[in-house]
Amino acid sequence: MAAIEILPKIYSVGVVDWGVRNFHGHTYTTSRGSSYNAYLIVDEKIALVDAVAAPFAQELIDNIKEVVPPERIDYIIANHVETDHSGALPAVLALCPKAKVLGTAKCQEGLYKHYYQNWDFQTVKTNDQLKLGQRSLSFIEAPMIHWPDSMFTYCPQDQLLLPNDAFGQHFASSARFDDQVDQCALMDEAEKYYANILWPLGAVILKKIQEIQKLNIPIKMIAPSHGVIWRRDPAKIINAYLGWAKGEVRDKVVVVYETMWGSSEQMARKIVDGLASVGIEVKLFDVAQSDRTEIITQMLSAKGFLFGSSTHDNDMLPNIAAFLEIVKGLKPKGRRIGFFGSYGWAGGALKEMQDLLSNCGTQETLPALAVKYVPDTAELAGCFEFGVKFAQSLK
Ligand code: FEO
Repeated sequence: MAAIEILPKIYSVGVVDWGVRNFHGHTYTTSRGSSYNAYLIVDEKIALVDAVAAPFAQELIDNIKEVVPPERIDYIIANHVETDHSGALPAVLALCPKAKVLGTAKCQEGLYKHYYQNWDFQTVKTNDQLKLGQRSLSFIEAPMIHWPDSMFTYCPQDQLLLPNDAFGQHFASSARFDDQVDQCALMDEAEKYYANILWPLGAVILKKIQEIQKLNIPIKMIAPSHGVIWRRDPAKIINAYLGWAKGEVRDKVVVVYETMWGSSEQMARKIVDGLASVGIEVKLFDVAQSDRTEIITQMLSAKGFLFGSSTHDNDMLPNIAAFLEIVKGLKPKGRRIGFFGSYGWAGGALKEMQDLLSNCGTQETLPALAVKYVPDTAELAGCFEFGVKFAQSLK
């Protein structure tokens, strides 16, 4: 994508990664691709805010060249160390050796531990300012949103917030702005991003948004480091983040199971019937056939989760085990959970699932439901009742 002026003398110079389908070590499927956004602010001094992933370094440099010769860059603001935003820094800095890199102390440490280069680095803290000429930049440390080094940059003259990963979306598009894309797809990707990356950090995010609100800085535009820029109504994504960070949920249950010969699947389908019979919104996923990123996204707005597995070698099946490891890491505090599954001669899956999620802030509201071999009519009725009771436990 070519450079584009998003505000007078502020250019989007990042790249669109149309082909990426996995992110963060295959923990996140990016079905709509992504982008690595970088912004060039041209004033008496010139600042580049963030870079892109290393394979796209030349495209970033070419975009910068459309606006200014790279050697004229005075400052590079490194809001975040992660390589999707810093990978191109060695190539860019080779072209602008006089540029000073600005970031938090943790950023300095992290960049050194990635690239082992002694760049001219200035550490900044919250409220520090950098004068560029007519414009200035100020900085807001944002540790653990989502790395210790993370930082937001703010330009008061344009009321522009550059928050790096926060408010981003893995959403490849030829458009640059929120008002140019399908709104459902946009919010779906924003929610997916929050659920799969930021969910465990809700308390930190809530505090940071409240801190920014207390700073009383007007925000007319939010330009994140992934996806499109929020210009039509930046409050829309801020309010969505507030809701997600507060753990706002609705009467919805996500049922996730893995089955060996179909018995646990029969149980899951009857449980869903029970839940739906009392008006609960339900989503059912066979984890072995489903996109884990999509399941996690559906779970963010759900009050309860039910997990099912057949027993195999006194343990749960491997796909549900891998999935529950992700759930454990997300620490879905306050959600109600339950377990079910079939077994042959000895059980084990239910206890393994219970143990795995025993310390992640969830609450098990019903005794786990086990069925030997294949459920008969009475046992299927018991599954239906299990769904009804779980729904009632959500009230
Ligand atoms: Fe988009 Fe935390 O990197």
